[in-house]
Amino acid sequence: ERQHQESLFLVNEFAKQFYQEQMFETDRGKSVALSYFKQRGFREEVIKKFGLGYAPAGKDTFTLTAVQKGYNADLLKQLGLTSQYWRDFFRDRVMFPIHNLSGKVIGFGGRILVKDVKAPKYVNTPETEVYNKSKVLYGAFHAKQAIRKRDECILVEGYTDVISLHQADVKNVVASSGTSLTVGQIGLIKRYTENIKILYDGDKAGVKAALRGLGLVLEQGLNVKIVLLPDGEDPDSYVQSVGTDAFRNYIDQEAKDFIMFQAGLLQEEAAGDPVKLSKLIQEIVESISKIPDPIKRSLYVRECANLMGVDEQLLVNEANKAVEARL
Ligand code: GTP
Ligand code: MN
Ligand code: MN
Ligand code: MN
Ligand code: MN
Repeated sequence: ERQHQESLFLVNEFAKQFYQEQMFETDRGKSVALSYFKQRGFREEVIKKFGLGYAPAGKDTFTLTAVQKGYNADLLKQLGLTSQYWRDFFRDRVMFPIHNLSGKVIGFGGRILVKDVKAPKYVNTPETEVYNKSKVLYGAFHAKQAIRKRDECILVEGYTDVISLHQADVKNVVASSGTSLTVGQIGLIKRYTENIKILYDGDKAGVKAALRGLGLVLEQGLNVKIVLLPDGEDPDSYVQSVGTDAFRNYIDQEAKDFIMFQAGLLQEEAAGDPVKLSKLIQEIVESISKIPDPIKRSLYVRECANLMGVDEQLLVNEANKAVEARL
């Protein structure tokens, strides 16, 4: 079993090296893939550190090479690298290897090079024995030391956000890869820190994505701060446009405690309407009641009462009811 896993890692490692060679050592790789990354502002050092590469356009270039080199065809299929009829799964895409916490390659993300309405922008390794996407955070292997040192984990949406921030010396960063956080992913973060800062796009979808699934994070006892980026920016574009210092200043200044962020947002929505206001109080109370630490809970109750101009004792009573309801 363990040995089987090791052989899966070996095959993935071979694939990673193959995609790297294709990018650095073939004419097409250099002209479409390496130049793509460079145009996006990624320097060679970070490209190599994250093992980025290129999957060639041919229908089975990878699979044939792997089989010729003696890699077991069954394993190629088990890993999702080879599809039906011996077709390569990843074709004509730039490749992002995904590592586990010990740096073994467990899967890949592949990005399309030119916009195409029919094809998805990213494709990822399907679920395999070694790749379970609900337990993976992209970049965790490269970020873990910095997360521990800074006692904070920055969560972003995308692969390129992680790489760009890393290059800008902001290294305590991982990506959820476009989905909302799972308990397994939160568990990974908790090994290193209890503090999480979520950076999402500054548009409506970004706000919604940020709020979604956050109940889970509160229940796990993490301290959550939220940073909204200027409209239209993601962490990659923003750090490349303003530079490291301004980026750090921005996230320090804009970071809002999650509960207070939610309270402010909902209060704006209610705009003095008592019916809406009472609904929003229920929502806040619901969030607060998920926090396991009773001392933290009561501090939040006080702050929220102040912010929303409601009686503190009333909020205390509501919060107590909500806590009891979950027991
Ligand atoms: P760039 O466009 O290359 O800058 O990537 P991005 O990370 O900014 O992309 P975006 O903000 O659209 O999406 C964030 C993350 O969601 C990506 O890094 C992917 O992990 C994931 N994602 C985006 N589009 C797709 C898709 O079409 N399919 C899948 N499976 N995942 C996607
Ligand atoms: Mn998007
Ligand atoms: Mn967006
Ligand atoms: Mn982007
Ligand atoms: Mn993005």
